[in-house]
This record gives sequence, structure tokens and C-alpha cells, in this order.
Amino acid sequence: MNLLQFDTDQSWIQNVAAMWRDRLRVNPRLVMCLPSGNTPNAIYAEMGRSVASGLVSFREAEVFALDDFGGLALDDPGRCRNMLQRFLLDAVDLSRERFHFINTEAHDLDRVCRDYNELIEARGGFDLTLLGIGLNGHLGLNEPGSAIDCTTRRVDMHESTIKASAGYVTHSNLPTWGVGVGLKHLLGSREVWLLANGTKKADIILSAVTGPISNELPASLLRRHPNSSLMMDAAAGSRLTATVQKAHS
Ligand code: PGA
Repeated sequence: MNLLQFDTDQSWIQNVAAMWRDRLRVNPRLVMCLPSGNTPNAIYAEMGRSVASGLVSFREAEVFALDDFGGLALDDPGRCRNMLQRFLLDAVDLSRERFHFINTEAHDLDRVCRDYNELIEARGGFDLTLLGIGLNGHLGLNEPGSAIDCTTRRVDMHESTIKASAGYVTHSNLPTWGVGVGLKHLLGSREVWLLANGTKKADIILSAVTGPISNELPASLLRRHPNSSLMMDAAAGSRLTATVQKAHS
């Protein structure tokens, strides 16, 4: 896993966006798996500005939502689909039929999962996957202990993930389950970027990079991926930096 640390939040945003523009220029038909959450929103806004100023286009690309919560109204602003719509898709030129998302309220959830897996595989898997990191090291809804070959499926969220969802919804009816793309397709993505900013991610980043590689901390599995990068700002990398400096002093 490449470790890329940027001095400020702004340079993190600018550099991730510049690399993303590069990938879209090299392959305009890029098949992407994208997260919602707080981490990527400023980067999404920068991509929106990039499209508006003609620097890049999403026209021929394709986007798969990483996951979605269950038990929320379809128009709940905290749903992954709706966050992606609001923070990215409303600002870029990707047509509606090129955006795939998971309908967690469907009657036959097994079928929804099967169809999503088949669609991912029909596209030959993901070219580029962006991920945030949970405070417990989860990747999307792949909570600690998830099997490394799991596919899109229904997941009961861990306590810290339920708590964190309070930051996305505007009511107290927090989701307790969801459906998420499994580690098989995330780890099978041709390129993966793990994004982290802010000091609250510093501890888990240190563990993901220096602790054991184990599905007990799903983000650590990216260290075995042939083309993964951890892209962090200085705050998220602060404990990692301190540990490296100590080791060299
Ligand atoms: P965040 O969530 O981007 O809102 O910090 C990341 C995650 O839990 O995967």
C-alpha cells in the first residue's frame, strides 16, 4: 500500500482530485465504487468544480454506490444513495443510468444482492474504488470479522457504526443494518484509495498500517493489495508520523 500524506486538508483534497481527474482522462469509461460519508464530500465538490470548468468528464464512466442503510425512508438524506446524489452526482455529468445503487427496501433483498454482484462482475469488477475508514477499521459495511471473500450482502452494523450514522441523518431513528459491497469486490478492484482526514482517524490509521494484517481490521487487508494507496491529511497521519519519527530517533 502506498502511503501518501498531504500537509493540509486542502492539499489532500486537491491532490486526490487531481489523481482522480488523471484516472478519468486515461480511462473515460472508468468503473468506480464510491462511498458516502463525511470523508469524501470536499473531494466530490472539487470534482464537481473540475467538471464545471471542463477539466474532466464523468459522461462515459460508471458509479456503483458502496453501500446503503436499511430501514430509512427512501428519501432520507442520510442514505448513501442520496448523499452520493447530493454531494457528487448533482455536480458532475454522469447520466442517471450509469449510477447503480442498492435498494435496501426491496422485498427480495437476496435478489437485490445477487443482481448487484452480477452487475459488478458483468463490468469486470471495479477499476477504481474510493473508501473511507470507520473508527473500528471497517471498509464500507465490511465490519471487523467480515470474510475476505464476502460479496454484497445484508449486514448488521456494529455499535460504533450505528453511532457514527448519527452524523448523516437528521433524526434519532438510527439505522442498525445495511447492505454493502463485500470485500471480494473491494479487494478485487484494480485500484483502491483509502481516504482519511482529521485527527479522529489518527488512531485507526496507525493500527491499519502498523498492526497485524487481519480481517479483524478490514482496512489492514489493503496492505496486501497490489495497487492500493492510503491518502491522508497530516492530521489523520499524525500518530503514524509520530511512530515513524520515534523509530528513527
Ligand atoms: P466518515 O465514515 O467518512 O463519515 O468518517 C467513514 C466510514 O465509516 O467508513
